[in-house]
Amino acid sequence: MRGLFITLEGPEGAGKTTNRAYLAEQLQAQGFDVVLTREPGGTPLAEQIREILLAPHTETMSVDTELLLMFAARAQHLTQVIKPALAAGKIVICDRFTDATYAYQGGGRGLDCSRIAMLEQFVQGDLRPDMTLLFDLPVEDGMARAVARGKLDRFEQEQHDFFAAVRQSYLQRADNDPERFRLVNAQHTLVDVQRSLDVHLVEIMSRARE
Ligand code: TMP
Repeated sequence: MRGLFITLEGPEGAGKTTNRAYLAEQLQAQGFDVVLTREPGGTPLAEQIREILLAPHTETMSVDTELLLMFAARAQHLTQVIKPALAAGKIVICDRFTDATYAYQGGGRGLDCSRIAMLEQFVQGDLRPDMTLLFDLPVEDGMARAVARGKLDRFEQEQHDFFAAVRQSYLQRADNDPERFRLVNAQHTLVDVQRSLDVHLVEIMSRARE
């Protein structure tokens, strides 16, 4: 078996957390070795960087600081978790990865994507996800679900225009790379979302067995 790198993307409130557990359970039930992880975070040090990134601060975090912290956490996560797991032939399911940087720091914050691409190359080399499941839903629905969950983090406190730009960026990236992206309609009920994930699970299993 070869390692497979699967990433989950989408706005807050899209059900990624529930569904990543579902994906992992299904794969484990079929005997696959799965590593379930997330960004920013995934190692003790990277989780500390996550806390800095998500906590609301009185001092405004510059967009460059935000970008560099995302990639600092990613560098740590890649070295400690992702690369060793892939080398050992495991399936890595990662809740968010560099597409989130393009969507949030590029689309949401308006950063020039060429700067993100530079850091992507620097930190990842040629490593890219094998498959990315994009959980898509209307901006209003995602924001409402995030509010219903309780206290909002620094990103969740952003306004409608920010999330509209994030969604637009994600959809544009999916459009540009249909080989890698699989679109999941996250507006459906959980059962229906999982039914659509079952189709992708079949593909993941067959690719992991290649
Ligand atoms: P979440 O994992 O709980 O959704 O929260 C992570 C937040 O961090 C989310 O609002 C998206 C944001 N984020 C970025 O802005 N850029 C990134 O590269 C990543 C991985 C996450």
